[in-house]
Amino acid sequence: MNIILLGAPGAGKGTQAKFLKDHFQIPQISTGDMLREAVAKKSALGNKAKEFMDTGKLVPDSLIIDLVKLRIQQDDCKNGFLLDGFPRTIPQANAMNAAKIQINYVIEIDVPDDEIIKRLGGRRIHPASGRIYHVTNNPPKVQNLDDITGEPLIIRDDDRQDTILKRLATYHEQTKPLVDFYKNFVGENRPTYFRIDGTEQAEKISSVIQKKIVQ
Ligand code: AP5
Ligand code: MG
Repeated sequence: MNIILLGAPGAGKGTQAKFLKDHFQIPQISTGDMLREAVAKKSALGNKAKEFMDTGKLVPDSLIIDLVKLRIQQDDCKNGFLLDGFPRTIPQANAMNAAKIQINYVIEIDVPDDEIIKRLGGRRIHPASGRIYHVTNNPPKVQNLDDITGEPLIIRDDDRQDTILKRLATYHEQTKPLVDFYKNFVGENRPTYFRIDGTEQAEKISSVIQKKIVQ
């Protein structure tokens, strides 16, 4: 089962991926998490990606496409994978097709921009695991500490107000066209596309998605 989660920054891709990877027993491939890890390690990729990420722009396609292609060749992806934050441009989607990578489902999580802005302002992250919290919507048991490890939570570098607005603009310009791309996809490898109301409670969204996916 190969699934793409599509949606604006803060729509809940990461939150839903955590539920779905457990339910379907497939790995979550978050290009954002991979890039943040590279930035933290100060690797060549991380050094190139940092400025784009900090200014709300997309990292160039040339840096990201091969990274994902290599990742999905790994053993843990043989029963499927969950793409969180990829593809994000038409050339990235075309590269998947060109490589004959079959996608079964494209799930768009739809959340209005004003709600996104509230969500990202209150997000807190446990960087080691990628666990996601929100100060009011999904608070940790102890303020600012991860529920499982007790380690401190952080605010993502790109969750500043000015960067959030730039990320939203980038989404509308470069990523939203993928909705029509997948809706109008012609060919035998056409994935099933559906849109979910992302303003419902996270658990409810997850159960709606699980019911729509036929294994
Ligand atoms: P990435 O890490 O993918 O960030 P993003 O797309 O901006 O999305 P987010 O991770 O911010 O949001 P999310 O949808 O995962 O929401 P979450 O579940 O956390 O990418 C970061 C950067 O890396 C990009 O800007 C770009 O520079 C680069 N990059 C990554 N991939 C790339 C690619 N393919 N090509 C080029 N560049 C790339 O939830 C958000 C908050 O809302 C949380 O606090 C959560 O608790 C809360 N929440 C979630 N669901 C609900 C709900 N149902 N109700 C209420 N609150 C909720
Ligand atoms: Mg995310």
